[in-house]
Amino acid sequence: MIHKEDIDKIFETARVEDVVADYVSLKKRGANLIGCCPFHNEKTPSFYVSPAKGIYKCFGCGKGGHAINFIMEHDRLTYPEALRYLAKKYHIEITEEEQTAEQVQFQNDRESLLVVSSFAQKHFSENLYNTDEGKSIGLGYFRERGLREDIIEKFHLGYSLNQRNAFTDIALATGYKMEYLVKSGLTIEYKNESERDIDDVDEEKKTSQLKHVDRFFGRVMFPIQNQSGRVIAFGGRTLRTDKKTSKYVNSPETEIYHKSDVLYGLYHSKVAIQKEKFCFLVEGYMDVIAMHQAGVENVVASSGTALTAGQIKLVQRFTNDIIISYDGDQAGINAALKGIDLLLEEGMNVKVLLFPDGEDPDSYSKKVGTQELKDFIVNNAQNFIDYQAHILTKGTKNDPLKKAEAIKKIVSSIALIPDAIYRSVYVKECSRIMEVEEAILLSELNKIRSKNFNEKGTKNIAQSFSPDNLNINEELIQDEKKASIESTEHQERDIIRLLMNYGNKKVAIGGEDIDAEGNSILVHTLAEVVIHELQNDNITFDNKIYALIFNEFVVKIEADTIPEFNYFLNHENLDICSLTVDLISSPYLLSNWEKQGIYPTMEETILKKSLYNAVYALKSRKLEIMIYDIQRQLKENPPEEKMILLMQTQHQLLEAKKTFNSLLGRIVVK
Ligand code: CTP
Ligand code: MN
Repeated sequence: MIHKEDIDKIFETARVEDVVADYVSLKKRGANLIGCCPFHNEKTPSFYVSPAKGIYKCFGCGKGGHAINFIMEHDRLTYPEALRYLAKKYHIEITEEEQTAEQVQFQNDRESLLVVSSFAQKHFSENLYNTDEGKSIGLGYFRERGLREDIIEKFHLGYSLNQRNAFTDIALATGYKMEYLVKSGLTIEYKNESERDIDDVDEEKKTSQLKHVDRFFGRVMFPIQNQSGRVIAFGGRTLRTDKKTSKYVNSPETEIYHKSDVLYGLYHSKVAIQKEKFCFLVEGYMDVIAMHQAGVENVVASSGTALTAGQIKLVQRFTNDIIISYDGDQAGINAALKGIDLLLEEGMNVKVLLFPDGEDPDSYSKKVGTQELKDFIVNNAQNFIDYQAHILTKGTKNDPLKKAEAIKKIVSSIALIPDAIYRSVYVKECSRIMEVEEAILLSELNKIRSKNFNEKGTKNIAQSFSPDNLNINEELIQDEKKASIESTEHQERDIIRLLMNYGNKKVAIGGEDIDAEGNSILVHTLAEVVIHELQNDNITFDNKIYALIFNEFVVKIEADTIPEFNYFLNHENLDICSLTVDLISSPYLLSNWEKQGIYPTMEETILKKSLYNAVYALKSRKLEIMIYDIQRQLKENPPEEKMILLMQTQHQLLEAKKTFNSLLGRIVVK
């Protein structure tokens, strides 16, 4: 823990222009400085630094913040790491609060495991270059697979000798403790009598008869690195062709290796992912390595495990656009379909790339040049609907039942997308591809979403009230429930997003005026309509920043001006600034998929719909929260009179909610 006074000092001393100048060559432009953005590829500068405001921002990729943010973003450091870095740069002495004995122990354990893993990696690499067995078998194998020397080194590939104790013996002889060899998973510990039962070591009977063997022997080794490049685990591939041994042996879960939060190759690919603005997800170690060799570096693999939400979060730190490419066999297809759903649920834009028959990223990358490979990926990536339609109706020769099943599956995937506008765009796309009316798809979509919501919703409620939880700190339950059920965060954010991006755009709403074709219309700006709608029902924002922004709109409109995002971008409140950066760099505006002609700039064309969807979604959610509150009061067995009153109110609220939902044409849940 760094002391508050020290943090303040760092903030005072680290001038943003000075910090940025270490990484970007800046030119003076009026009161500001400009340069080429270090976070994305550009030739014309769109990166601004404002010394007066102490912030930087890029109008190209939307990144922005203060000096500490810059270091965090640029060097991928955590907050305390960035503070320490800047303290060092400016010779500011910092005092860190002492850690508890437990914290120290934990750190020591982790550090010891990292050190052991690094030793193992070096040992396996040395085997590859300096032993006869390693050279002929290990290096021979990699060469046969067409890997260049520099790539073998870059990925620290290695070889484990075909003896059951080679690694453990040398590690012990070098001074590493058995405890850490075992904890790292590199050495397997088992009881003498039951050699076959090595997983099941009975704690109590652990005595001197414990035996130890290497986990990896006679395999080529793929070290797995964490985000700062330190080795945390290994995958070892057998070179035997018989089926007796499993093709890969991987490190088990350890204190430093949590499989579900690691992506193979991310350390080497993060810069390229940021530059290319998408991430390419493949199946195996070899695919990642071969793509790198071919010059495509924005590639990672989930390696052996099914894709997890934790892994997706890692990618999301760099991009929201992902192209997945799994094998064409049934296992690969199943993994792809599951992966697509999870990615959609996490708000990613998903495309799928199929390689020509019999090829995988590894083999195909060896046949074509770098540019050809890059072009192939971008030109052949299909959106997930095309892919699902292709896979699910393949070989069924227009069988109507199969087609219906496929449509249901596609709609159930679309239903997972958190963003209403994306959902509606994909429904259109599905309607076009599958030749089904949009309205039918929408109604199916709503059914699925309300079912999903009810399942999730009731589960949450049930969990917080289950007897097991009754003893838990009441506040905790309240907080959790608030977050999951009582939050209007999404709905509020969407309204602010619309206001910022389209506040001054005109929308036609039904009314008294008549247009050229004789239709009655009334034209207002989007901001006016939103404010009118919300104020009419006394709706307020829970999120303080959103409330501030909304209030600015109200005040400004009374003075007959409508603030645009530039106004908020230069706002003195830095939180508003950085939120603005996020909201205006929303994917609808900047998505590079658009450039590839996937969808038109669609939100502007359906502005009125978006506006009412957003407003009704917020109102509807507020109603839900009130209903929920009443139901909670009812659970407390109130006196009869109060109960009747509560039930009447509940009924009215439910009716009101029904009205909203029918106005909306669908059930809005998020
Ligand atoms: N995998 C695993 N255990 C297995 C098989 C596969 O952990 N028994 C994981 C590995 O991470 C592997 C990935 O799944 O990299 C993909 O498997 P596969 O395509 O069979 O292996 P490749 O790495 O492509 O190996 P190769 O090209 O040498 O066959
Ligand atoms: Mn392969």
